[in-house]
Amino acid sequence: MRITINQIREMKEKGEKITMLTAYDYSTAKIIDEVGIPLILVGDSLGMVVLGYETTIPVTMEDMLHHTKAVVRGTKTTMIVGDMPFMTYHVSVEDAMRNAARFIQEAGAQAIKLEGGVTVAEKVRRVVECGIPVMGHIGLTPQSVHQLGGHRVQGRSPEAALRIMEDAQALEEAGVFAIVLESVPAPLAALITEKVGVPTIGIASGAGCDGQVQIVNDILGSFTDFVPRHAKQYARLADTIRDAVSQYYDEVRAGTFPTKKHSFSMDESILAKLKTG
Ligand code: KIV
Repeated sequence: MRITINQIREMKEKGEKITMLTAYDYSTAKIIDEVGIPLILVGDSLGMVVLGYETTIPVTMEDMLHHTKAVVRGTKTTMIVGDMPFMTYHVSVEDAMRNAARFIQEAGAQAIKLEGGVTVAEKVRRVVECGIPVMGHIGLTPQSVHQLGGHRVQGRSPEAALRIMEDAQALEEAGVFAIVLESVPAPLAALITEKVGVPTIGIASGAGCDGQVQIVNDILGSFTDFVPRHAKQYARLADTIRDAVSQYYDEVRAGTFPTKKHSFSMDESILAKLKTG
């Protein structure tokens, strides 16, 4: 049985911290599920850390569905949240409903996430009315990177802080089960967390949120283009992978891999026949 949105809501009520990690593939998702982390976000950060784009903007529905299916196959109890890509919910309510449904119906996710507050509230409400749990995402919304002038902290001015608070309230009223707060000053994130009834899940927004989300490649140290200030590297997989790949390269060239242990034998008489025949 997978974690439900009710259990996520109860965690806020009980003051239990909520953990979410991104994942994009079967093997990584399987490990996260085995550890017991309740939420996996198949984020459109896929575009940057897996597909090598500079932003999340080029990511398509087909990219997201392909990776969400793999993550779903690797997990048993974790709740899977599929991230709606750029322009798949902006044009119309119908688009938002149709594309949200694809995550649930085709990919097997249990919820979707989309970026924006007041401006997407009506779409959120209609998607929730279809029976699809929605996670909001406000503060730094990477799909608007060009409008925001870069990946920068949001909500530092009084007007901007008020707008983010209003976004959170609009999302709660529209029926989201949780809200991601990205790159919001820690005191503002803590205040929003106090004011809204749904769990807040922070990234680069301090410890006052109800939960935390990180990009799995950042905490594993496998993405080397840059290390965001908010990310803590719990491993340095890029170094581990580099060492292993170098050793393999050296051994193949030296003829020391494969050995007998990595090879298969066959009946000598069959081989002899082949040689003479
Ligand atoms: O795409 C993603 O990974 C995200 C997280 C940063 C929350 O939206």
